[in-house]
Amino acid sequence: MKGKHIVVGITGSIAAYKTCTLVRLFVKAGAEVQVVMTPSAKEFVTPLTLATLSRHAVVSEFFDRRDGSWHSHVELGTWADVMLVAPASASTLGKMAHGIADNMLLTTYLSMKAPVFVAPAMDLDMYAHPATQENLRLLQRRGVGIIESGEGELASALVGKGRMEEPEQIFRHMADFFRHTAESKAGSGPHRGKLLITAGPTHEYIDPVRFIGNCSTGKMGFALAEAAAEAGFEVELVSGPTALSVRHPGIHRTDVVSAEEMFEAARQVFPTCRAAIFCAAVADFTPETTATNKIKREATGEWQIKLRPTKDIARELGAARQAGQIMAGFALETDDEMLHAEDKLARKHLDFIVLNSLRDEGAGFGHDTNKVVIIGRDGTRLPFPLKSKQEVARDIIRYLCKLMDL
Ligand code: C5P
Repeated sequence: MKGKHIVVGITGSIAAYKTCTLVRLFVKAGAEVQVVMTPSAKEFVTPLTLATLSRHAVVSEFFDRRDGSWHSHVELGTWADVMLVAPASASTLGKMAHGIADNMLLTTYLSMKAPVFVAPAMDLDMYAHPATQENLRLLQRRGVGIIESGEGELASALVGKGRMEEPEQIFRHMADFFRHTAESKAGSGPHRGKLLITAGPTHEYIDPVRFIGNCSTGKMGFALAEAAAEAGFEVELVSGPTALSVRHPGIHRTDVVSAEEMFEAARQVFPTCRAAIFCAAVADFTPETTATNKIKREATGEWQIKLRPTKDIARELGAARQAGQIMAGFALETDDEMLHAEDKLARKHLDFIVLNSLRDEGAGFGHDTNKVVIIGRDGTRLPFPLKSKQEVARDIIRYLCKLMDL
């Protein structure tokens, strides 16, 4: 971080007080920080505090009130190595998404040449609102990095998602970002080749508004993608519909909806990959036909949906695998866990399978934790205690690297 130029944009949110700590962390790590505040941010923290912490005058107005000189947002756009908007309010996110340039922070954003990150902060209903979510996705599609809000107590005393990530975590995100860009520029860091990861559920549409889905959130698969990218893999992440975002620049994400689309996307990249981890909860059945119009209750009466099996992606790709390609799958079981997992390991020609049981508290769908056993084709049985999905992901990637002699 030493010598890096960081533009920190602050908007009007209670979480602005946390940005004081963040700016201090950046400066302590040797970065040069230029703070840009929206007018309402100044209601929450004073420019004096931030100017002192950042050791630079804070920019907020288009013109300097004392001498009338013009603050050039264009200059900041070329000076910066990165721009971080933290906290990013719903209003600023909306304006960023739609190019509304009514304050210095937004003009700076619109003329920014460097990568941009946002750390949203707002009340849970505002965060969950489709307008905010769509703005976030729109910004993400344009390459803005989203530092996801955490769950917890909010300024309104309500508890939910919308709380700005803690300064230490945001600092870590930015430190990771600088490290990865430095590594990719220098061509340094480990290069472990391509790794395919499937993640999330699939949705099999019955008519334009209904689908057959499952409870997978994609958390395990996304944690694997991050851990693998951290370990130096170039990750091809094929994801079903999830609300998650990726952080690491070494992850290339392809979004799909149905099992068929997931198969096609995985099939395309698999030949170039050294290994694959099939973590997605792929639908086993799909409607034989998808109605073009919404099926009406009155007109239909009793309704039966004819289903046909989908392709087993792991199995099909396993059959086409080249020598040396390593393949791993997941088994989520409710009974006779070990037996079913071993059967899948053999049937899908996998090198190892990660077993998690729905009977274990804190394991499986939606949780932030998981409890797994790695079962290897060579007879390995590696049980792990309950851990965060990030830690589980690192255990799995470590095991994969060992199998690949890396
Ligand atoms: O047979 P089951 O669905 O329980 O197997 C789970 C494993 O197989 C997971 O690794 C999953 O990603 C993979 N799978 C797949 N394609 C399917 C079904 C499962 O790749 N159609």
